[in-house]
Amino acid sequence: MKYRSLLACIAAVGFSLPACCEDGYDLWLRYSAVDSAAYPALRTRVREIAGSANSPTLEAARAELARGLAGLAGAPLPIAAEPSQAGALLFGTPRSSPLIGQLPLALAKAGNEGYVLRSVTVDGRAMTVIAGNSDIGVLYGAFHFLRLVQTRQPLDSLDVVSQPRTQIRVLDHWDNLDRHVERGYAGQSIWDWHKLPGWLDPRYADYARACASIGINGSVLTNVNANATSLTPAYLEKAAALAGVFRPYGVRVYLTARFSAPIELGGLKTADPLDPAVRAWWKARVDEVYRHIPDFGGFLVKANSEGQPGPQDYKRTHADGANMLAEALAPHGGIVMWRAFVYASSATEDRAKQAYAEFVPLDGKFADNVLVQVKNGPIDFQPREPFSPLFGAMPKTPLMMEFQITKEYLGFSTHLAYLGTLWEEALRADTLVKGKGSTVAKVIDGELHGYRLTGMAGVANIGSDRNWSGSHFDQANWFAFGRLAWDPFAPAQSIAEDWMRMTFSNDPAFVKPVMEMMMGSREAVVDYMTPLGLAHLMGTGHHYGPAPWVSDLSRPEWNPAYYHRADANGIGFDRGPPVNGSGGSNAVAQYAPKVAAQFSDPKKTPENLLLWFHHVPWDRKMASGRTLWDELVLHYAHGVEEVGRMRRTWDAQRGRVDAERFAQVAAFLAIQEQEAQWWRDACIAYFQSLSKLPLPAGVPAPAHPLEYYKSLKFQYAPGRG
Ligand code: GCU
Repeated sequence: MKYRSLLACIAAVGFSLPACCEDGYDLWLRYSAVDSAAYPALRTRVREIAGSANSPTLEAARAELARGLAGLAGAPLPIAAEPSQAGALLFGTPRSSPLIGQLPLALAKAGNEGYVLRSVTVDGRAMTVIAGNSDIGVLYGAFHFLRLVQTRQPLDSLDVVSQPRTQIRVLDHWDNLDRHVERGYAGQSIWDWHKLPGWLDPRYADYARACASIGINGSVLTNVNANATSLTPAYLEKAAALAGVFRPYGVRVYLTARFSAPIELGGLKTADPLDPAVRAWWKARVDEVYRHIPDFGGFLVKANSEGQPGPQDYKRTHADGANMLAEALAPHGGIVMWRAFVYASSATEDRAKQAYAEFVPLDGKFADNVLVQVKNGPIDFQPREPFSPLFGAMPKTPLMMEFQITKEYLGFSTHLAYLGTLWEEALRADTLVKGKGSTVAKVIDGELHGYRLTGMAGVANIGSDRNWSGSHFDQANWFAFGRLAWDPFAPAQSIAEDWMRMTFSNDPAFVKPVMEMMMGSREAVVDYMTPLGLAHLMGTGHHYGPAPWVSDLSRPEWNPAYYHRADANGIGFDRGPPVNGSGGSNAVAQYAPKVAAQFSDPKKTPENLLLWFHHVPWDRKMASGRTLWDELVLHYAHGVEEVGRMRRTWDAQRGRVDAERFAQVAAFLAIQEQEAQWWRDACIAYFQSLSKLPLPAGVPAPAHPLEYYKSLKFQYAPGRG
């Protein structure tokens, strides 16, 4: 090949679509070249990057604009301190740029972290301003502007003001110090603790860039099942090195605090939160943390949950424990995120009721710098759950949302399930505590109860895999989490559309069908795993694959049979009010009266939650006119059919997506279809062994007898706890 044509080839690989060597590392920040004939805005509106980058964050904003626009435009743009021509892109704050200070930009509406994107005319020249009140606002604005170009939006009369609706937008990494990621399906932890602080993997900066691009401003580096070693000086130095890399991108470092650390590290005899020596130990340790990391965010704590130590070991309350840590953090501006994911080892009470029972009596008893972090549903990140009754029930305690981005219960990283729809459903659920429209989103953004602190946490799906998330489509869940943390009211569909356009292609022949595929994908998983309100039917420990038959584990609520309660007569967990002293667990009573009334009545309960709240006979008539048994089987069958449809949709995209990513998605969808079939067959075989009913006409029998499915073992499934 001639030298010149080789160069042309290299340029084409770098700047055109579909490229041949896409491995997913660039996430949604690919910045591949725009066809300028189809999108002239880029040529007319983006001719120069202007502004002074007089802080690391403004430098990051300028660097991102330069990198992004060079890729999109196919050539680097001139960089200037002041705008010198029409089509200039002026970035900065009123402090970094006197011109920005003079323009009428309505920056007051952008708050501390927000931004304004506006088309303006200065001295007869049309320009675009990316302005914030703070440097980080400018960086967020730069990413928004790049998104507009990446998704081919008009740039002529921009008038965007955006600010986050929650303050704390964190990724929770369930990463252990040995780099095993609990519930991680994307390789090892990206934190290479052994080589830190000496070696700073370039991935750390790319991680922070990606987080900043979607507004994430915090990272809890360590697992909620915590190891006190992370609070030792050697590890604080390592965490400080990460904090240094993240700082320009506005991402603060947080750590998990093991409640028994004063015993394990301090040699004390107790970790009683009311013991003065324990309090002094935490205070000294927190002071030390801040000596290493002056902008340390605070602690995330899992206490008295699944064997973790906590204040109840000393007959103290969760509030006592949280407040002790809060007191040590407060002088430095740090916060405590105290998890409400608790259920007792000895309790006979319905597990779905336990978090509410523990926490509601403590409402108003937490210190000002404590948030209580609540999973979206009352049990545990299932493919579908009703919203947790805690939302709306603690008006005096800031509750933050905890979503799980990693797909522990939705097929790990090989199943394609866009979680934006799951989270949207949870956020839009109406608690009715202050009348109609008292949605979960309004609880967590503080609007409903006037919370002084607000936040959203996502259990990260990030690992050392080249594509970060284990699969290309799981990147969409990281993206959607950030966008929803910024704006819990944002529609899941438009988030998916942005992500697809940025990550894959703007070709309408790609966008429309693939978006439909994404939007229906979570419901397909619900159908082939846990339809009609079923939950927790997954294999013991690893949660991979179906195991609805398991009923012999020592703790009742670890058994799938505890959740589905299927027998010869019917299926489902009766959580309605007890009738004549027997029957339901009355979990419904934890909701506002109108919600409780709806969930108490099987006729009013939405069918997609029926078996969560009711034990119903197999021959119950459903809305379709079919029996519950037939309906259940058809949902399982439908889930598998949907995955078949997803495969066909994807196959039709051959040629519109680069070969490398196309092939991996196609292969994963094939795995998903096989596993959906396995779920369908195993669950139908098991439930049929109880219902003794024939399958509806046309539905094929499971491929194997029930014993075959029961015999499958997966001791090496990834992500174990
Ligand atoms: C789930 C998960 C555990 C995790 C726990 C938690 O139960 O399986 O691995 O530790 O949630 O959220 O604390």
